[in-house]
Amino acid sequence: MEDRIAEKIKNISYQIFPTMVKLRRELHQYPELAFDEYKASERIAKELKKIGIGFKKGIAKTGVVGILNKVKKGKTVALRADMDALPIVEQTNFPYKSKNKGIMHACGHDVHMACLIGAAKILTRLKDEVPGKVKFIFQPSEEVTPGGAKPMVEAGVLKNPDVSGIFALHCDSSIPVGKIGVREGPTMAQAESFDITIIGKGGHGARPHDGVDAIVVASQVVQALQTIASRKINPLEPVVISIGKMEGGYARNIICDRVILKGTARTLNKEVAKKVPAFLKEIISGITKSAGAYFELSYYGGYPILINHPKATDLARSSIAKLFGKDAIFEIERPVMGGEDFAYYLQKVPGSFLRLGIRNPKKNAIYPWHHPKFTVDEDAIKIGSAVLAGVAFDFLSG
Ligand code: NI
Repeated sequence: MEDRIAEKIKNISYQIFPTMVKLRRELHQYPELAFDEYKASERIAKELKKIGIGFKKGIAKTGVVGILNKVKKGKTVALRADMDALPIVEQTNFPYKSKNKGIMHACGHDVHMACLIGAAKILTRLKDEVPGKVKFIFQPSEEVTPGGAKPMVEAGVLKNPDVSGIFALHCDSSIPVGKIGVREGPTMAQAESFDITIIGKGGHGARPHDGVDAIVVASQVVQALQTIASRKINPLEPVVISIGKMEGGYARNIICDRVILKGTARTLNKEVAKKVPAFLKEIISGITKSAGAYFELSYYGGYPILINHPKATDLARSSIAKLFGKDAIFEIERPVMGGEDFAYYLQKVPGSFLRLGIRNPKKNAIYPWHHPKFTVDEDAIKIGSAVLAGVAFDFLSG
């Protein structure tokens, strides 16, 4: 984009900023869980209507998709925001803190929605100069697998008109406000979950030899699963196997006959991800067999590895630099082992998942995602809105 356009984008973003903060706080006050984002969906529809963007509601339940310049010639670029909140009791003292008991926007999806509405406003004001079509995708359920991205893609949000590039932002409290994190290649993990049931034989705590102690077997399994990362997979490939929940037992003097283990397996390589279930099975089966126990293993697929396309990421770098200078680019050195269903869109079309810096210790914006005190420096909204608009503009110009 020319300097003239960059200036306009920034100016509009700064102008609408107070309204976007208001919107973000409103969304923050009424957080909704995955696939239950009805109010947010209404609110977004209202905003799109106000600015004259045509949209469809009720996609994949609560999703909303708006389109700008529907009949204009040229490519189509998509921008995406997720809408769901988390089952967390908010522990902040803001006047706009959550009014929905036990639910909180603790991942910044309220900010993502505000930024995307902000970008829609900016691009609408510049619509005659925008060299193509822009889709605004508001997606339900990012937090709960199988997630909202997949059904949105299946519902055809990347088609008619066909989308040829897609971008999104996610808040990041490790990045200072004013900066945007970028990275190409594998950036977020394939995160899968599994349940293991260890079945032993109950009995009296004083006579372990008459039973098969599922607790002892389960603890061996928990230990041994760590050898998948340390001894089964090439050490140069990142793998995380975590058991986050262990359930079983009745009383101190009863040999437990059944333990349930709930875990997650995360990798950054598709081929490695494919190997994990077989290793799990091999290890659990060996241990249970030697103990005379049985097992059941349920392995659930998770979001795919999120791979940012190099060209789209470079384009984002140049848009950020044009808008806010080179210093605003924050190069993310390493991928993270968290999952993100934006990966599904990136499997279909090139694009990049950017990080929105929100960190500011003066405003207490220091807490990680999903923390009950999570908050953001709201100045990030004017940056995020402008960056989304700028990236869309540049993508369509290319
Ligand atoms: Ni999130």
